[in-house]
Amino acid sequence: MIKSRLCDLVGIKYPIIQAGMGPFSNNNLCVAAANAGVLGLLSTSGVWSKDTQPWVYNDFVRTGEADPEDDMATVLEKVLKRTYRLVKDKGGIFGINVMVSAEVLPNSQVMIDTAIRVCEENPDMKNNFKVIFTSAGDPVGWKDKIKGAGFTWMHVVPSVRGALRCKKAGVDVIVASGHEGGFHTSWEPVHSMILLPAVVETVSDSETLVCGAGGFCDGKTLAAALVMGADGAQMGTRFLATQESDFHQIWKEGVVDAGDRATLVARGFVGPARWLKTPRSQEHAKNTLQKSPGVFLGTPDDYTTIDMSLIEFEVASIKAAFEGNKEKALLAAGEAAQRIKDMPKVNDLVQEIVREAEAILRDVPKKLLA
Ligand SMILES: Cc1cc2nc3c(=O)[nH]c(=O)nc-3n(C[C@H](O)[C@H](O)[C@H](O)COP(=O)(O)O)c2cc1C
Repeated sequence: MIKSRLCDLVGIKYPIIQAGMGPFSNNNLCVAAANAGVLGLLSTSGVWSKDTQPWVYNDFVRTGEADPEDDMATVLEKVLKRTYRLVKDKGGIFGINVMVSAEVLPNSQVMIDTAIRVCEENPDMKNNFKVIFTSAGDPVGWKDKIKGAGFTWMHVVPSVRGALRCKKAGVDVIVASGHEGGFHTSWEPVHSMILLPAVVETVSDSETLVCGAGGFCDGKTLAAALVMGADGAQMGTRFLATQESDFHQIWKEGVVDAGDRATLVARGFVGPARWLKTPRSQEHAKNTLQKSPGVFLGTPDDYTTIDMSLIEFEVASIKAAFEGNKEKALLAAGEAAQRIKDMPKVNDLVQEIVREAEAILRDVPKKLLA
C-alpha cells in the first residue's frame, strides 16, 4: 500500500491533500475527501466576503449550513462542527486553509482563534480536525499559537526562499506550489519540476516534511512527487472537477472540457492568477498586459498603482460564474485541467489515483533497473 510520512503525521490513509480553494466553498468537497482517506481542507476566506462578494459568501454559508446573519466566527464554528459531524464515523481527517497575507490579517486571526477555541470546547474534534494550513503570507510568528494548540501546521510557498522562511518559522509541512497551479500564482514563477526537488533538497529532514502542489492530478504525478522526495501531493483542480465539489457546474465542466493548452495567467485579486482560457479570460489578459504588466514581468504592483477596473472586471466575472453565465465568467483552474477528462465521485477518484501510483511505483524498478 502506498504510504508516506504525511500519512503517519496526520493519520490519513493516502499521501494526498485536497487543496483549499478559497474564497469559494469546499465544504462538501472537504467532507468527501476526508472520508475518502486523504486530507480534506476547508477554505475559509469565503467567510469574510459578505460585503465584497455576497454571491460567494451566500454559497459558502449555504453549503456550510450556517446562517447568513451569523458573524464570521459563528459561520466558521458551524462549518467546523458540521464537517466533524460528517467525517467522524469514517475517521476522516480535515483542516482549514487560512490566508495570512498582510491585508487580511485581522480576519486570519479570527479564523485561527475560532478554530482553536472550537477544538478546545469540543476536545473529541481533535481526533479529526488536525491541520491548520496557512497561505499567502509570512509564516513567522504563528508557531506558538498553531502548534501550541496541538495542530499540525502546513504552509504553502512558491520558492526556495519561502521554504527557508517556513523552516525558520517552525512549519511542520511545507507545500511547494508550482506555477502550473490553479488561481493565485507567484509573481516570480517556478514550475513544480524545478521547485519541488529544490525545496526537498533544501528543507526536507526528520522534522520537516515537503509536499508538492501545482500540476498533480493522477497516479503518475503523485508517484512523480514521491519519487522527487516529497511526502505527498496537494491537488486543487483535480478535486474541483468531482461530483461532490461545491463549484458551479459550468466551472467543473470548464475543467473537464478544457483540452490542450487550457489556461492563461492574468490579473487576480492579489497578483497573478491562472484562469481557464476563454474569450473572457483572453480579454482580461490583454487588459492585464496594459494595466498591470508586472503580472508578466515578475514585478509586483498593488491596489495603489493598478487600474482598479481590472479588479472590477474580475469581481463581475466571478459573479457571472456563480450565475452560470459561461460567456462572462472567469473560471480559475490549473494547467492540470488539460489532463482531466472526467468528473468522478471523490472516493472513486482517490482509489484510482492510488491504484495507478502504486502500480507505477512497483513497475518502475522492474522496467528500468538492470
Ligand atoms: C479555484 C481555486 C481557488 C484557490 N484558492 C486558494 C486559496 O484560497 N488559498 C490557497 O492557499 N490556495 C488556493 N488555491 C490553490 C490550491 O490550494 C492548490 O495549491 C492548487 O490548486 C494546486 O494546483 P493544481 O490546481 O494544479 O492542483 C486555489 C486553487 C483553485 C483552482
